[in-house]
Amino acid sequence: MKRDLPNLAENAIEARRISLEHERIEALYAEVSRAIVRGERARVQASFDRYHAALEAHISFEEDVCFDTLRQLHPGLGMELTSLSREHARFREDLGDVRKRINSGDLEAAVARFDQLATSIADHDRREEALLARIRGGLPGPRPRTAIRTVAG
Ligand SMILES: [Fe+2]
Ligand SMILES: [Fe+2]
Repeated sequence: MKRDLPNLAENAIEARRISLEHERIEALYAEVSRAIVRGERARVQASFDRYHAALEAHISFEEDVCFDTLRQLHPGLGMELTSLSREHARFREDLGDVRKRINSGDLEAAVARFDQLATSIADHDRREEALLARIRGGLPGPRPRTAIRTVAG
């Protein structure tokens, strides 16, 4: 079957944006981690606010723009997309939970929850990038990833 070039090009642009946002969110996570390790409470709060806002914007972009388009173009991906969407809902809940712990000043409890969340998000991101690479077929695959470094090490 002949490839639909405009769709392929759009997918490549969306995939690039998603990959760049994953990198940016990881960098923001590292900022929060550094502030937690140093016990800088004001910085923890400020950096977590940035992390939370970036992740929320990213999830909204995926849900409202990408996944809807992908569902229409590739109905066979429905189950995978639903599974990723369920994880988004869990991440939103977990973010609220981490925020509560940070606000209450219990950084130790926040770290445990935040590390768990970051590890789940890293796995989720890899699956999204692999999915988009599969859709793009012959185009270059996802960037190589290193294991995420959590606060606890
Ligand atoms: Fe996602
Ligand atoms: Fe993502």
